[in-house]
Amino acid sequence: MTNHHIALIPGDGIGTEVLPPARQVLEAVGERHGITFAFTAYDWSCARHLREGAMMPDDGLDLLRDKDAILLGAVGHPGVPDHVSLWGLLIPIRRGFRQYVNLRPIRVFEGLDSPLRSAAAGDVDLVVVRENVEGEYSEIGGRLNRGFPEEMAVQEAVFTRAGVTRVLEYAFALAGRRQGRLTSATKSNGIVHTLPFWDELVAERGAAHPEVTWDQEHIDALAAKFVLDPARFDVVVASNLFGDILSDLAAAVAGAIGIAPSANLNPEREFPSMFEPVHGSAPDIAGRGIANPMGAIWSAALMLGHLGHPGAAAAVTDALSSVLATTDVRTPDLGGTATTAEFTDKVLELL
Ligand code: NAI
Ligand code: MG
Repeated sequence: MTNHHIALIPGDGIGTEVLPPARQVLEAVGERHGITFAFTAYDWSCARHLREGAMMPDDGLDLLRDKDAILLGAVGHPGVPDHVSLWGLLIPIRRGFRQYVNLRPIRVFEGLDSPLRSAAAGDVDLVVVRENVEGEYSEIGGRLNRGFPEEMAVQEAVFTRAGVTRVLEYAFALAGRRQGRLTSATKSNGIVHTLPFWDELVAERGAAHPEVTWDQEHIDALAAKFVLDPARFDVVVASNLFGDILSDLAAAVAGAIGIAPSANLNPEREFPSMFEPVHGSAPDIAGRGIANPMGAIWSAALMLGHLGHPGAAAAVTDALSSVLATTDVRTPDLGGTATTAEFTDKVLELL
């Protein structure tokens, strides 16, 4: 029997609706695979920010530090600026715990129609590896001359040899374990300092991984190819901003943003890693009980894999696949009428 202590941060909106299903699935699969979980829930959110003036307490990271992993729903609430929710919770956790890899797998499941005619089930099975702690999302910069005609804003992108190399190393090794193909997202024709540096480091890592065939594409062309020919990709590695955009696009190609999972990984395991669906708090549907819990449940499966339970992780993704392939139970975002709870019950039944 292994026991894992998991921090739960449901957050706001549908984050609070999709985490309970993920927890139910973890408990059910744990029973069959000899894994027990102790959960500690934290109410860190925009609601807390409105109430107490901060997304999380000052010692928030210390409370999480001894947990085996963190499962997060989504944060964001109309009335709290998005940069407050992001920089007050998600980014401090990602950076404080050196979760420098953001892993975002996506597939077209049997039984789910991609909006693209050319993307059939089985063809599309790719992973976006997003650099998660530096790049374009940097605190370096500032505003000058506020309120004057010469008002200005400067934001510096930060690419370090250590930071880029370690995420590329992760991506090349992952490609080696998958189909051996890697694509690097760049824009070194327009961004003339940081991205040529990125390209050089890709070539360096590529030389160290002869088992991987790699190429690079400018982000604009790459976005078009995600739509026109998503099946050609295996592992796609990208900077923080490019990876953020590409992974939402990949999720949409696979049918809906609500199905996509993500893992914020500290590969060295010095700190807990964090698992969360790609989607946000969806204020437009929050409170109606119709959010698709698939992204959160798939994220819980990624967590099981990270914690050393590949069998349990596969059982969860297989149950998700079976619901889609063998039943017509779907939440409204996938064209069905099922509630969050009905979809979750079907997953539990087929697990
Ligand atoms: P969003 O992902 O919340 O919603 C985009 C669209 O997809 C909406 O129409 C929503 O109803 C739909 N959708 C998303 N997840 C769904 C699910 N599980 N089931 C069914 N439909 C789903 O993105 P949006 O609207 O740009 O942002 C809303 C808030 O969420 C903002 O405050 C934003 O800052 C925050 N956000 C938080 C993230 C996080 O916590 N990691 C990530 C993205 C956005
Ligand atoms: Mg995003």
